[in-house]
Amino acid sequence: MNIDTEAVDLALTTTRAVRRRLDLERPVDDQIILDCIDIAEQAPTGGNQSSRRWIVVRDPEIKQELAELYREVVGGFMIEARDRLAGTDHPRAPVVRSAAHLAEHLAEVPVIVIPAIVGRHDGSGAPGLFDSVIQSAWSFCVALRARGLGSAWTTAVLAKAPELKELLGIPDEITEIAMLPVAWTKGTDFRPAPRTPAREITFFDGYGRTYESGPKTPVRMADGPGTMVEVDIAAEVDDVWAAVTDIALPAQFSDEFTGATWDDGFDGPALGATFTGHNYLEVLGDWEVPCFVDVCEEPAAFGWCTSDLDNPGARWRFELQPLMGGGIRLIYRLLLGPGPSGLNAFIDQNPGKEHRVIANRLRVHRANMQRVADGIKAHVEAVV
Ligand SMILES: Cc1cc2nc3c(=O)[nH]c(=O)nc-3n(C[C@H](O)[C@H](O)[C@H](O)COP(=O)(O)O)c2cc1C
Repeated sequence: MNIDTEAVDLALTTTRAVRRRLDLERPVDDQIILDCIDIAEQAPTGGNQSSRRWIVVRDPEIKQELAELYREVVGGFMIEARDRLAGTDHPRAPVVRSAAHLAEHLAEVPVIVIPAIVGRHDGSGAPGLFDSVIQSAWSFCVALRARGLGSAWTTAVLAKAPELKELLGIPDEITEIAMLPVAWTKGTDFRPAPRTPAREITFFDGYGRTYESGPKTPVRMADGPGTMVEVDIAAEVDDVWAAVTDIALPAQFSDEFTGATWDDGFDGPALGATFTGHNYLEVLGDWEVPCFVDVCEEPAAFGWCTSDLDNPGARWRFELQPLMGGGIRLIYRLLLGPGPSGLNAFIDQNPGKEHRVIANRLRVHRANMQRVADGIKAHVEAVV
């Protein structure tokens, strides 16, 4: 049997959180829900034990009460946030608008499905319980999508679990894991959303090890080896931006980087600006590196390459990502090559050990990068 990969991938990449395009007028047949649950039940479960339970709410009065619960937890907040952000170019404005729409119309959605599992999580964080239900509930959403229906994964109402249990008569030993409004969608032309490319968040053979291509086994410089560290900072984006573009600041935290100064004609972050970085290692003494700012997207990304703009010895980058609950996730990335650097001399001296030279160098870099990221966090949070 051949699986139509294109069709499967289409369903997987376009199963969106549908809120504003839920068709509130068109009835949903119970059988289609049951068919999708049968499909979802094919998902793996711990011990191969059938422990998932599905609550399908269609009664208008119960939906109304559910909608009120949802509004108390998050809906009211979403509606207020939508009104506050209306007309602004705030990055969260579209999702808040969509979420507020759902909050206002939840009671009108034809069907609300609550996937649940027998058992209470022991709070240990150890895998077991939720791991047996979430993959199944997601299969349910994808199966709906394949049939022209949509849903939105929501969990906010779970903050009112006692009231939810009371409303639906759910026993205490059952855990609800999501609330999925289900309807036919208005149109089916959903698109993949912008997401982080796999290469930036996939680590081969050890946490934090990224590659631009390959990697071959054993790895080589030609694979574009790199690493990343990250830290969540409780501060405004402008304060984090000021810190990451203060090119001398990392010298306060790094064991290797000792300082940097803007070259003549430059005095701050700008595309094409150049600066000189100073480093020190006991085995090598002091050395200087010319640096070229090749990424300057205030307030989201600041990066530079070393040695040669067209054939860099390394590429460094700070990325600033706003966090849902406030604050900024700072990601600090390094990519070695593709041009020559001090590393190539070591590789030439140690034929056959290229992978080890790369691994050792990245380990040292990574430790320093973590110091720098943690240092920037402490610095910014102290200033705020
Ligand atoms: C764990 C989890 C909880 C969520 N809770 C809610 C919620 O309570 N209300 C809501 O409107 N959306 C909720 N969402 C949806 C997200 O806000 C977000 O819109 C969605 O993951 C991305 O939508 P997209 O796939 O269409 O890009 C939740 C998503 C997840 C994964």
